[in-house]
Amino acid sequence: MATSPRALAPLLLPLLVFILSRSLRADPEAVVSRIAFGSCANQSAPQPVWEAVVGFDPQVFIWLGDNVYGDNKRPFRLFGRESTVGPWKNVPQFYPSPEEELRRRYEMAKAKPGYAKLRERALVIGTWDDHDYGLNDAGKEFIGKVLSQKLLLDFLDEAKDSSRWKQAGVYTSYMFGPEGKRVKVILLDTRYHRDPLLSDGTILGDPQWQWLERELHGPQSEITIIGSSIQVISNLSATTRPLFYVESWARFPRERERLFRLIDSSKRNGVIFISGDVHFGEISRFDCGAQYPLYDITSSGLTQSVENSVPAVFQPLMRLVAVLTPTTMRVFSPNCHYKSCTCGQPNFGAIEIDWNAVPPQIKLELRDVQGNSVGSVEFPVSDLEPSNAHAIRKEGHLFQRHCTLETELPWLVRHRLALLLFGTIAVSVIAVVLLGIACLSASSMFTKKFKME
Ligand SMILES: *[C@@H]1O[C@H](CO)[C@@H](O)[C@H](O)[C@H]1NC(C)=O
Ligand SMILES: *[C@@H]1O[C@H](CO)[C@@H](O)[C@H](O)[C@H]1NC(C)=O
Repeated sequence: MATSPRALAPLLLPLLVFILSRSLRADPEAVVSRIAFGSCANQSAPQPVWEAVVGFDPQVFIWLGDNVYGDNKRPFRLFGRESTVGPWKNVPQFYPSPEEELRRRYEMAKAKPGYAKLRERALVIGTWDDHDYGLNDAGKEFIGKVLSQKLLLDFLDEAKDSSRWKQAGVYTSYMFGPEGKRVKVILLDTRYHRDPLLSDGTILGDPQWQWLERELHGPQSEITIIGSSIQVISNLSATTRPLFYVESWARFPRERERLFRLIDSSKRNGVIFISGDVHFGEISRFDCGAQYPLYDITSSGLTQSVENSVPAVFQPLMRLVAVLTPTTMRVFSPNCHYKSCTCGQPNFGAIEIDWNAVPPQIKLELRDVQGNSVGSVEFPVSDLEPSNAHAIRKEGHLFQRHCTLETELPWLVRHRLALLLFGTIAVSVIAVVLLGIACLSASSMFTKKFKME
């Protein structure tokens, strides 16, 4: 019996969809259903994670910063003429590289075989964070920024006629997919115009704010992904100080509020944040910022991770610290691989959109170097629009997960990491002193006894 064309249709359709979905670079109207992203990749270290990224088969890959480590770190030195830490430090811990060196590091990154494979298959776009900008924690004051911008755009193969070459900063946006299945990607520049830390000034600067306003008010999209190098929702510093601080939008509270107000007033549905920077992965959610839940999927890093920064024996300790760190925004789900629902191992972010589901579904996921899921959330895209179910607003002083700010946690809870550390140190010191006293009195008793005899 000859196969009728009708019988072949079920076979051909997936093939057609496959071919169409492959051709995003040629055709920006192609339906986008798989997006990967990541941050913090050491160009001098092996980068095995690319195999897993390629395995996910993304149509778009988004760099969220620290795409290379362009700056240099002096050794940890507490004392002496070249001390790099403490209030008495006399040289900065980080210093920038000359142009040739930064260029060389980008070349090393681009030559990674796994990354080359990804570039052949997916559209690669991105923004930067501090280390590829040129200097740890740097903002608008960094003089190397004009040159760094050129090197990043070279690395990303930015089209020669792109306005990104001429503007101050690397922010940009993309619109993918046909009507009804549109995905907009907005990439922010959190460095070029950023005021000093602790100033509560601006992160984006006026021109970028005006641009962002136009982008959010502009043509509709079913999903809008906003890429920010630093975390938007979580305020880790609020619960880890004074032990350590990380950068985040929360450390510029007025600027963060402005961002939420803008999303609200733009009436744009389907906004999701993605971020990097912190060397671990987590999914957080804020219910009291807009008319619908705001998710922030943090993937960090592709090679750099909190667990890999310590000897293997301390990794369980890092996991314990992750469990003990208070959080009000993190999404805890049964899908988490680790108890803390963070991932302290190298990871990348994976976004999957099922446009055929009714209503369309979106899955936000973190995957490890093997490509295994370490945490995910999945919901209908229609969850990201105003609804009665989301009419939850902050009510008095009651604790509300995904709404109560970290700074509003009870003092004891908020400072439990610091209390635990300082408590452990204090108890150890007291134990050593007591032991010393005991030894001394024992030996003096012994000598007395010896003399008497
Ligand atoms: C990158 O990797 C190299 C080689 O393993 C290492 O010497 C260097 O310290 C790493 N840099 C960072 C920023 O971790
Ligand atoms: C985040 O924490 C810092 C440090 O405790 C605090 O100054 C800031 O106001 C917090 N931001 C928000 C949005 O709660």
